[in-house]
Amino acid sequence: MTRSGVIQRVGLAVLCLLVLPFVIYALGFGWRGLTRDLSEETYLWRPEAPGPTNALMVHMIAGAVITLLVPLQAALGVSRRAPEVHRFMGRCLVVASLVTAFGGLWYIAHVGTIGGQLMDVGFTFYGALMLLAALKLTLRAWEKDWSAHRDWALRLVVLALASWMFRVHYGLWFLLTGGVRSQPDLRGIFDQVQVFAFYVPYLLALELWLRRRRA
Ligand code: HEM
Repeated sequence: MTRSGVIQRVGLAVLCLLVLPFVIYALGFGWRGLTRDLSEETYLWRPEAPGPTNALMVHMIAGAVITLLVPLQAALGVSRRAPEVHRFMGRCLVVASLVTAFGGLWYIAHVGTIGGQLMDVGFTFYGALMLLAALKLTLRAWEKDWSAHRDWALRLVVLALASWMFRVHYGLWFLLTGGVRSQPDLRGIFDQVQVFAFYVPYLLALELWLRRRRA
């Protein structure tokens, strides 16, 4: 195996370990929300809106699946080994991405986010991009346009990891500043920047990288 192959695999293994606590948290939250009344525990569980609440809980479970599967799928894509597993996991990822995005979008449309209109817009855009990436990478695979398929797959990787990155940004910010300009209802200046900053800069960096590689 080449040196860069080893580095890529170690990097992806470390990434799997880093996302694991968030994956377990999201799985547990979603499962508890589907199986019991959490209205005393969280503002996200709305007895007056059972459809959107259940959709949000299912979105957490599907989101946990994609957050964990994405680094594994990337490792398989890099190694080009076990193409059948890559295809099977790819299908699971596309379905889970659609469920994640639809669940989040349904909740926003009927209940709205805690942070108000700006957060609604940031998360709606995020969900729409996830839908777009999942659909485009599937279409490009059907057309056997592998280069475009890979570009869209990379976009989906960035979007799938972005929810975890959202929490990482908060963790680092609270560690460094104690939470300056962040409010519990996510309406501080830091929070309002975050509703886009957890995915837009990473997508732009990816686009620049893809452009340079094509050139
Ligand atoms: C990528 C995988 C994703 C995972 C693992 C995930 C997980 C979660 C979790 C655990 C929560 C509960 C809040 C918390 O405890 O932090 C949450 C809330 C939420 N998520 Fe996701 N999510 C993902 C993707 C998305 C996407 C693509 C959308 C866009 C539609 C979205 C929209 C929302 C919304 C609107 C909330 C409620 C926000 C609020 O008002 O507090 N999520 N998500």
